[in-house]
Amino acid sequence: KRVAILISGSGSNMVALADSMTGDHPARPVLVLSNVPGAGGLAKAEARGIDTAVVDHKAYPGDREAFEAALIERLDAAAPDVICLAGFMRILTPRFINHYAGRILNIHPSLLPKYKGLDTHARALSAGDAEAGCSVHEVTAELDGGPILGQARVPVEPGDTAETLAARVLPMEHRLYPAVLARFVTGDRTPVALP
Ligand code: GRF
Repeated sequence: KRVAILISGSGSNMVALADSMTGDHPARPVLVLSNVPGAGGLAKAEARGIDTAVVDHKAYPGDREAFEAALIERLDAAAPDVICLAGFMRILTPRFINHYAGRILNIHPSLLPKYKGLDTHARALSAGDAEAGCSVHEVTAELDGGPILGQARVPVEPGDTAETLAARVLPMEHRLYPAVLARFVTGDRTPVALP
């Protein structure tokens, strides 16, 4: 199976995914694409010998359709079976989602369906939640909606800030996403639950 990974930043989730696809794993990373030129994850992908590309959304000001058309054109050249959004910070329209229907995954740093959107850890702290975490879900037209394929939970500790909570969740993301992908590429939709 051919996996394309979309990033916008440091790409730590991309690294975890790419490094999981070795040996008898049925998938391999075929492209890492960033909407941000110079994103830290691009160098990490190149260091792993993975093809990279940039489709800069700023090159299509106010024209989301044109940006997505360029995204689709570049992605289709890599003929991916699965698209993993990993710290990809652009909202995708139904046009893109329908083009890859049922084959797009995303990782979101909250225990969905709670805290869709941004600032998830700050919102969990404000709500006084005893635990937080991350979710991997199939991408549908509804932002951070779609069937949940896995979740990882961490305790909220006294004195936590959004930063300390994010630092506790991120390593769990790096375990969860590869575990979900390994099942997804075999057609197994059994949700992953960590720990
Ligand atoms: C992570 O918190 C992830 O949950 C969110 O983007 C953040 C950065 O991810 N989607 P990465 O280090 O760029 O993979």
